[in-house]
Amino acid sequence: MALILGIESTCDETGASVVDSGRRVLSNVVASQIELHARYRGVVPEIASRAHIENIIPVVREAIETAGTALDRIDAIAVAHRPGLIGSLLIGVTAAKTLAWALGKPLIGVDHVHAHLYSVNLNELPVVDVQLPVPDTSDRQLSTINDQLSTPRFPAVGAVLSGGHTALYEITDFSAIRLIGTSIDDAVGEAYDKVSAILGLGYPGGPVIDKLALTGNPAAVRFPRTLLGRESLDFSFSGLKTSVLYHVRGHKGRERLASALSESEIADVAAGFQAACIDVLVAKFNRAAKRIRARSIIIGGGVSANRGLRAALARFHLPVFFPPLAYCTDNAAMSAALAHLAYEAGHFSPLSLDAITSSQFAEAYDASNVPS
Ligand code: KG4
Ligand code: ZN
Repeated sequence: MALILGIESTCDETGASVVDSGRRVLSNVVASQIELHARYRGVVPEIASRAHIENIIPVVREAIETAGTALDRIDAIAVAHRPGLIGSLLIGVTAAKTLAWALGKPLIGVDHVHAHLYSVNLNELPVVDVQLPVPDTSDRQLSTINDQLSTPRFPAVGAVLSGGHTALYEITDFSAIRLIGTSIDDAVGEAYDKVSAILGLGYPGGPVIDKLALTGNPAAVRFPRTLLGRESLDFSFSGLKTSVLYHVRGHKGRERLASALSESEIADVAAGFQAACIDVLVAKFNRAAKRIRARSIIIGGGVSANRGLRAALARFHLPVFFPPLAYCTDNAAMSAALAHLAYEAGHFSPLSLDAITSSQFAEAYDASNVPS
């Protein structure tokens, strides 16, 4: 048994979690900053880092208390130190280093994108989850698809679909990951957030569009599916977003606002937009699976909570692994779990660990070298 305290502060969620042996989540505390950023319709970096400073100590304290443990019983301190907003990352990294130094415990820096992929290994529902909505039964059915097959088979296609990333990876095992495709413009979650702003639906856009899409007609408005070249594993979502904008504004020279649309028209736009996103994602998963001869698909990140996507992939020809809903969006449990691999291997980080804005798996990738 190894107890790892994880810390998350890459973007706008301050998280702390205690995970036992890389799998059993004893606590998962997330202080969301959604209300602070909602009026700006996106994350404001300075506001995010200031809120992390205020939240970090209470959140760590609550994670330790809820786990029924004490700081001196923790075996290692893990922190997501890349990629993210620099001002946000620095708060979590500084807190983790300080705890590691003061307690004399090993420090383990993890890659946040890697942790999103690893989150499919967290099979249990959280013991406590102070911010995220409790999933309803239908969500839970979709989210437990991985309970039947508890370990993904490799090679696997990994997909991180979030507000900051839309990227595909070849995963040979959880310590050998290679980037094989990425967005050339907006991330898919970013497109959800922008379309939500166009429709006057608020921030973050994913959950609200996902819900509205259930009531709309996906065939009422046909938005473009951008697949880039025939073989390309890259993504582009900015054309889709612009096409929603033009549809909402109307083409008759006079600018229309979303408020001029009826509720059912807005639901139809949400459903049409979501259908286009899902078609593109599923097409790219198919291409990537063929390219690397995948035996399974692993999906993480905020957009992996999407009900339409989960329903579409229920019929996929390979086993598809999603995290439980509470671990789709940013959280510290996935970092604590991933750090267990390093802990077992005795790979620790020095106290000089840096906050880094780019992912370890993106550096060597050049989209222009990939056949398109
Ligand atoms: O992984 P995450 O918490 O943060 C990043 O690392 O970016 O992802 C947040 C993103 C937001 O863009 C949000 O709109 C999107 O995930 N999201 C969703 C859903 N829930 C959250 N997108 C589509 N459907 C959802 N149900
Ligand atoms: Zn994330």
